[in-house]
Amino acid sequence: DTDAFQRAFDAAVAAEERIEPRDWMPDAYRATLVRQIAQHAHSEIIGMQPEANWITRAPSLRRKAILMAKVQDEAGHGLYLYSAAETLGVSREELLDKLHAGRQKYSSIFNYPTLTWADVGAIGWLVDGAAITNQVPLCRCSYGPYARAMVRICKEESFHQRQGYELLLALSKGTPEQHAMAQDAVDRWWWPSLMMFGPPDDASQHSAQSMAWKIKRHSNDELRQRFVDICVPQAESLGLTLPDPDLKWNEERGHHDFGAIDWSEFWDVLKGNGPCNDQRLSRRRTAHEEGTWVREAAAAHAAKHSNDTTG
Ligand code: ACO
Repeated sequence: DTDAFQRAFDAAVAAEERIEPRDWMPDAYRATLVRQIAQHAHSEIIGMQPEANWITRAPSLRRKAILMAKVQDEAGHGLYLYSAAETLGVSREELLDKLHAGRQKYSSIFNYPTLTWADVGAIGWLVDGAAITNQVPLCRCSYGPYARAMVRICKEESFHQRQGYELLLALSKGTPEQHAMAQDAVDRWWWPSLMMFGPPDDASQHSAQSMAWKIKRHSNDELRQRFVDICVPQAESLGLTLPDPDLKWNEERGHHDFGAIDWSEFWDVLKGNGPCNDQRLSRRRTAHEEGTWVREAAAAHAAKHSNDTTG
């Protein structure tokens, strides 16, 4: 009976065991995972766009090779995550349809434009840095397939973060114009990066339940604070400043205090009104349509192959 299943599930979560695809799980747990993993997968593939914007204009062959590898990694992360979502009984096709129809979200951060080459560095340092801070605890998520996907993703994200840091360092130590370009990129990406962690805890509708289920291990504000504390000394070694006059060490708390985040901007971007929402979604829909023949060819090939081996 359901009560016994529920008790077994609760006991497994309490004992830090992993929930696996064939285990019984509450419907709401399954729905929450589908929502979060789909949003995460969509973010990975939409996130390819702002950086791909600079592949043709990378300043050297070395930078171009690194950036191409990174953008390909993001596609791979999307694939691991769609596969993890599929273990919950949804299909990739269904999730992509929802993304294209605007019925599932992707991260707010990817609705901002990449105006200069330095933005590639700022995305690596700040956006991927924020992503790692949020995702390392997800390696301990109670749902097995999601937690395991996160292990590899986090390793790759940390390479992404380092390449961004190194790129910004080169610009920061370069000519005055290059330094100014790096500073401008950091000034534009700092606040949107802090918004990536989601709304403040008192406005985070899903946090309490997701933490009880051990899907989330820390609250949005805890992870945001951790990220700020990590970035301050890194900004100093980069020779760049963070655009927040209220940012200062608080001896008593053992953390940095920081200024107020403009949450109206965050909610507005979620509603579709960010600078690039329309462009990101319409490019995604076009890419999907243009890939129809590839999916059809792959399916035909797979069908032929399975006939070859079984017949
Ligand atoms: N961008 C877009 N939507 C967001 C964001 C964001 N940065 N933060 C929160 N939201 C949405 C939530 O999805 C939720 O909306 P919904 O009910 O329609 O799904 C709403 O705002 C309220 O937020 P929370 O209750 O705090 O939602 P949740 O508990 O899911 O926490 C978080 C949000 C922290 C983003 C969580 O989902 C998470 O850890 N996701 C996995 C990481 C991820 O998706 N990263 C993607 C960007 S990193 C990258 O791709 C490089």
